[in-house]
Amino acid sequence: MSDPQSPISSPQSPISDVRDLFPITQTHAFLNHAAVAPFSRPVAEAMQQSIAWRLNLAPLAADEEAWATTHARRSAARLVGADEAEICLTRNTSHGLNIVAAGLPWRPGDNVVTAQTEFPANVYPWKNLARKGVTVRFAPARDNRVLVDDVAALMDDRTRLVAISFVEFATGYRNDLVALADLCHARGALLCVDGIQGVGALPLDVGQVPLDFLAIGGPKWLMGPIGTGFLYVRRQHIPTLDMAMAGWMGTTDIHEHFRYDLPWRDDARRFEEGSLNVVGAAGLDAAIKLLLSVGIETIEERIMALTDRLIEGLRERGYQVITPIAHRHERSGIISFQHSRHDPAQLEQRLTEANVVISRRGAFIRASPHFYNDEEDIDRLLLALP
Ligand SMILES: Cc1ncc(COP(=O)(O)O)c(C=O)c1O
Repeated sequence: MSDPQSPISSPQSPISDVRDLFPITQTHAFLNHAAVAPFSRPVAEAMQQSIAWRLNLAPLAADEEAWATTHARRSAARLVGADEAEICLTRNTSHGLNIVAAGLPWRPGDNVVTAQTEFPANVYPWKNLARKGVTVRFAPARDNRVLVDDVAALMDDRTRLVAISFVEFATGYRNDLVALADLCHARGALLCVDGIQGVGALPLDVGQVPLDFLAIGGPKWLMGPIGTGFLYVRRQHIPTLDMAMAGWMGTTDIHEHFRYDLPWRDDARRFEEGSLNVVGAAGLDAAIKLLLSVGIETIEERIMALTDRLIEGLRERGYQVITPIAHRHERSGIISFQHSRHDPAQLEQRLTEANVVISRRGAFIRASPHFYNDEEDIDRLLLALP
């Protein structure tokens, strides 16, 4: 088995210190960040601090709310290269996608193009537009790859939006967002991205990828709390995206309790209609700050080195890698595999008994290591396989 030379795989490197921030490493080879990730200590501490504040200083709770949410938005903006004004906090990915779906000016006969391999979170908000006469078209996957040409072939002059994941949840295929954004804009359509399976693991800069909307949830690759997330709305769309839900927090002065004629904020916070999940925001902020302190490029390199090792070990053992791996730029933190003779449920059981945490998705096993995992975690998985 190869031993990939990564600058962060040596014992002196900062990654070994970072690993200590994840108590889960003491008991498990946790390789399931595409599902729900464990907390790091800084995330747990930030949330505990937020709770302690409320326990002891409740009269100042509004200050805490403003502090936590402002910082979370700011961190989210830094993570994806956005302006803070283009970020609103959400409950989850679906919430962000629904803000977009409910806010665009649909006309009967319009259509949305998505892919057959999307997680349902990125399908139902668009199918829900059937009541407005909007249909959803599904691009096929060929050898688990969503080809830009297949998306293009489904588009026509009534295609208003393409809704696609940064990384496909089951196979780990990394979509070509630049090509998709260019395609959409050349055809007068918008690109809305479900970023939850990629952002936090792989770089995505909205300054370089001209997508229009990006919805993300906290608990996977960001390693933040369940029930948190954010939506990026490109600045030019903020004034025109209708607010399907409106509230006092979206106005220009939340302290003006007796006026009902306030204008809406001119930033994406107009989509935050009411009070937010403050403890969650504190956790989300700490989670993103930890990733930023390591550096997303470093994280991506680390994930690629670990998944290289995994792919090689799987092949040596006769497993079939489902994830498209021929081109590195199409890979992500997700590697899915199967074996012609081993039942996936039995594989899952073997791995669970060895304290190796993965997911079973249909006929295959999905492994998804993050930057703080090490070679031993990968080897634990490989050694537990029959
Ligand atoms: C691609 C993708 N989108 C969204 C979600 C979850 O959606 P939400 O954050 O709305 O719960 C998942 C969860 O597995 C996912 O894989």
